[in-house]
Amino acid sequence: MSMKIAVLPGDGIGTEIVAEALRVLQALDLAFEFEQALVGGAAYEAHGHPLPESTLKLAQAADAVLFGAVGDWKYDTLERALRPEQAILGLRKHLQLFANFRPAICYPELTAASSLKPEIVSGLDLLIIRELTGDIYFGQPRGRRSAPDGAFAGAPEAFDTMRYTRPEIERIAHVAFQAARKRRGKLLSVDKANVLETFQFWRDVVTEVHAQYPDVELEHMYVDNAAMQLVKAPKRLDVVVTGNMFGDILSDEAAMLTGSIGMLPSASLNARNQGLYEPSHGSAPDIAGKGVANPLATILSAAMMLRYSLDQADAADRIETAVRAVLAAGLRTPDIWSEGTRKVGTREMGDAVVAALASPK
Ligand code: NAI
Ligand code: MG
Repeated sequence: MSMKIAVLPGDGIGTEIVAEALRVLQALDLAFEFEQALVGGAAYEAHGHPLPESTLKLAQAADAVLFGAVGDWKYDTLERALRPEQAILGLRKHLQLFANFRPAICYPELTAASSLKPEIVSGLDLLIIRELTGDIYFGQPRGRRSAPDGAFAGAPEAFDTMRYTRPEIERIAHVAFQAARKRRGKLLSVDKANVLETFQFWRDVVTEVHAQYPDVELEHMYVDNAAMQLVKAPKRLDVVVTGNMFGDILSDEAAMLTGSIGMLPSASLNARNQGLYEPSHGSAPDIAGKGVANPLATILSAAMMLRYSLDQADAADRIETAVRAVLAAGLRTPDIWSEGTRKVGTREMGDAVVAALASPK
């Protein structure tokens, strides 16, 4: 049976980088069925909405979604509901994408771009799994009022609610244990169990779920310590699972260890392992249309799609190996270029990955 992929290039460099990822997927000789649709600003121009019903239906019916990026400054004056970025929020909500995967990989050839010492980051390969639909970002009640008690009773105050239900923690824990099993068999759960009841509960539930994965080694760590370990000895970490807010912060911290936004893929999955795969960066209007965008984050997102939604780990490995080969050969788009390497454009980088896929190692 062929694998159905909804292809949503979006705006700006989205169309350029997705085109390269598609060429790489097509070079694999697997049975894909690609269907493209407009999303973001491009969909707003054509249909008056950033996430038209037809695009959403296509995504819902697909095994996976390959997404480019959305947005442009020219839409900043639109009302919030019509802005391109709403498309990604709508897709997350309708597909119930609760598990966000953000790998941070530091290729030995690119360590110069990292802000940390080469020996600390060279060869780094960690995966942060962030719960995406709960936590203090969505907990009710929230709002502003007059402080009901305390030293400043009567003063204006704002409040949010941190909360997680057992099923929410269980499902992200299962996803994380399964991902750890596909890697080094090690999972680190990050919380703040010493201070927050929500995260004591998180720790308890993750520990319970662990009983079903005796082959995976589980460790718990407080988030403040995890933030330190990420810059002190990141290579000791492999798969990290945490809540929405801590994951937001830690995944950006981890991303910076690798040095370049043009290299970072991401995935958001639901309970059926259906997923949306996209580069971590945006539509980069400043370089759109110039043919210089780095397509590797999107190509690596396509590899994640093969691994996590389509059960094609071998094909995913092949793409990742091809990307490494191209970097080792010295090819660089401007964002990762350094003295002594060869500067190439988007298309040429895609060509090189396709060629590396074909050449025997
Ligand atoms: P951005 O990630 O688009 O760009 C930040 C900087 O990184 C720019 O200088 C850009 O040229 C560079 N850059 C990004 N991707 C690159 C690549 N593949 N190759 C080479 N250089 C690259 O973030 P920015 O500028 O804050 O936002 C631009 C637009 O993208 C906004 O409308 C924003 O809302 C949207 N956006 C969309 C996202 C999505 O579709 N998931 C995520 C983040 C931002
Ligand atoms: Mg963030």
